[in-house]
Amino acid sequence: MDKIKIGKSQVETVPLGLGTNKVGGHNLFPNLSESDGLATIRTALESGIELLDTAFIYGKGRSEELIGEAIADFPRDQVIIADKAAHDFSSGGMLLNNEPQFLTKSVDDALRRLKTDYIDIFYIHFPDEKTPKSEAVGALQELREAGKLRAIGISNFTPEQVKEANQDGYVDVVENYYSLIHREDEETLFPYLNDAHSSFIPYFPLESGLLTGKYTKDSTFAENDPRSKDKKFTGEVFQKTMAAVDTLRPIARQHHVDVLQIVLAWYLANPNLAAVIPGARNAGQIPGIVQSAKVNLSKDEYDLIDQNFSTK
Ligand SMILES: NC(=O)c1ccc[n+]([C@@H]2O[C@H](COP(=O)([O-])OP(=O)(O)OC[C@H]3O[C@@H](n4cnc5c(N)ncnc54)[C@H](OP(=O)(O)O)[C@@H]3O)[C@@H](O)[C@H]2O)c1
Repeated sequence: MDKIKIGKSQVETVPLGLGTNKVGGHNLFPNLSESDGLATIRTALESGIELLDTAFIYGKGRSEELIGEAIADFPRDQVIIADKAAHDFSSGGMLLNNEPQFLTKSVDDALRRLKTDYIDIFYIHFPDEKTPKSEAVGALQELREAGKLRAIGISNFTPEQVKEANQDGYVDVVENYYSLIHREDEETLFPYLNDAHSSFIPYFPLESGLLTGKYTKDSTFAENDPRSKDKKFTGEVFQKTMAAVDTLRPIARQHHVDVLQIVLAWYLANPNLAAVIPGARNAGQIPGIVQSAKVNLSKDEYDLIDQNFSTK
């Protein structure tokens, strides 16, 4: 895999990364095993993955701690750490906070938990309501100048908020929800990022498993499974997604792989995306993810997938 560059920064990485909200993200997912999480990170790094996407809110610092433990056995420059903050619990409840002081403290705390002296990409995880966006990004720029981070990111910002945040041209990368079935940013954000030389990294590329090919239109979820109440996993929306996934099966057979590899290969071939960060629950899922880097979709296959999932 050829390396890509993150925005105008000096950060380079292979484009196939790993999402780590299931590594220590006990507040988000029940019954996570930390030893599975550690093994997932180590297996990913041993398999050629470099970019690890984490956040304070994944286990309120626990994901960062486990990553710090796992990467200690690897050369630091072989790992690209992407981290995020904005969730502030200091007043009892949870607030979103982008104030410069809060972001500075968040980076210092994250460095301690990760047991490292720099973070490769640091994102403002969500915009808050009060801090001027360019002031928040300005705080990250100061941290970059201090050598504590190497690239500046923002996440979950609307196109208007992205433009406001990037007034001084400091934003290297935007991480927003984007997948084959969720493509709003294509028209509203990608042209601006292209002009601004900022990168885009999508989250939820596998739609939490929906696009792996392991479900069919007949799949049902037990009543105590939260997916049984999720619109994406039930009713008409689910049937429509499964019909589109079915169109991937012959392409997968042609390449002797599964649907999951075809979906990830489509993202890797998408010129608007810098990298892709599928999440994994255990080390056993890593080989399937890594295999996607070996799939070369033809232009016709790429376009066919594009059309079959088009939301226009
Ligand atoms: N910036 C943000 O606000 C934000 C928000 C959400 C997520 N994220 C980032 O994006 C990453 C990706 O999101 P995500 O992990 O929630 O969802 P995802 O990547 O869309 O889906 C991950 C799920 O796909 C399934 N999967 C992965 N590899 C598989 C394999 N080889 N075989 C079968 N199934 C496989 C697993 O499902 P099972 O669990 O069913 O095994 C896994 O939990 C996160 O880890 C996080 O780093 C960022």
